[in-house]
Amino acid sequence: MRFHYVCSDCGKVFMTESLMYQCPECSKKNDGKHFPYGNLEVVLEDDVLDKARAKDHVTPDDFYPYPSDGSESFPVGITPLMRPERLIRKLNLPNLSLKLDSLLISGSFKDRASYEVALQAKALGERRIVLASTGNAGAAASAVGAALDLDIILFVPETAPLNKLMQSVLYGAHVVPVKGSYDDAFALSLEYTKMHGGINRNTAYNPMTIEGKKSVSIELFEQMGRKVPDAIYVPVGDGCIIAGVSKGFKDLKRAGLIDKMPRLIACQSESSDAISRAIENDDYSAVNATTRADSISVDLPANGRMAARMVKESGGWAVTVPDSQILDSQLTLTREAGVLAEPAAATSYAALEKDRKHLVSVLGENAKVVVLITGTGFKDMKAFDGRCSIPEAIENSIEALKDLKF
Ligand SMILES: Cc1ncc(COP(=O)(O)O)c(C=O)c1O
Repeated sequence: MRFHYVCSDCGKVFMTESLMYQCPECSKKNDGKHFPYGNLEVVLEDDVLDKARAKDHVTPDDFYPYPSDGSESFPVGITPLMRPERLIRKLNLPNLSLKLDSLLISGSFKDRASYEVALQAKALGERRIVLASTGNAGAAASAVGAALDLDIILFVPETAPLNKLMQSVLYGAHVVPVKGSYDDAFALSLEYTKMHGGINRNTAYNPMTIEGKKSVSIELFEQMGRKVPDAIYVPVGDGCIIAGVSKGFKDLKRAGLIDKMPRLIACQSESSDAISRAIENDDYSAVNATTRADSISVDLPANGRMAARMVKESGGWAVTVPDSQILDSQLTLTREAGVLAEPAAATSYAALEKDRKHLVSVLGENAKVVVLITGTGFKDMKAFDGRCSIPEAIENSIEALKDLKF
């Protein structure tokens, strides 16, 4: 056996590699008003970790429950770790890096989860993957589906940014826009899977999504010279990415490759702050999310309990920022780092700017800080409306150049 499951709430162990989504007992408590119970964690067997420990250089394959065949059929890494010189000077944080997951194949971090679920589908002999998405997970699953010949059925809120929907259509998925929220699409996709079968890839509901996302930590470990950052700023909606980041470092620790965990900083919009409330006030109830940062607009976070616990265990904290600051940070990233990020992805940088003083008081100015940039701004250029525009065309004459004063 390569892995088994454990319930992240009651701790019950399931010694199986079969397809499992949730703890049958704990999930009975779910009422649609409070963060769901019963998400499963994947536990790698000791001999898998022993093999990883013995290697001079590890890759995510060493830690995946379903490793790839190494054929690079859908490469999900290694994304650049950038030293943003101007932001380093601006914030006076000499060891600041941006991890550019906006450069993954479909333009977001979600490629990591979708790839591992595709490997799961291949291993289990399934062709159909069903999911709900705010847009990026759908585009990622659709891209992987095109590359690996899988059938993708995607439920998305009809209000998702056009480019994210178009991407999924272009990749050849069966796209089902829903007249409702992401949470409504989530519920419908579960019903569809019950009715028609296939593997459900919903974030955190399928534990392999967290396993795929943990690949970022394995990469960071090697990119940083086999060291652990002191703090990682992560944009948070359902809480699956941040749980994946945590799981990657936990696996490295279990393998004896590292001896400390980074602090995880959960970055949210003030208008979608369910997990921050859980971290700060132990409040696990749904919110009414309205943020413009569509990818992190979540009423009832699918992985809220696990995410809040992992942030607290890491000694980390939550930071919430108003939407106006998120949109300003998009411009800062483009103009002062050359990084085009969608609103959700700029939330991690917005949170760092707000939190800088507190961060330094806890970890000092020389802290090794990583900001995850989780999605490209090309997916949603409308987010820049009213903040910048393309200048009017000039006459095709040398005369017209006299009026240009740059
Ligand atoms: C670009 C981007 N950033 C952050 C997130 C938040 O991830 P999670 O919902 O796992 O917390 C998402 C999720 O869709 C996303 O697409």
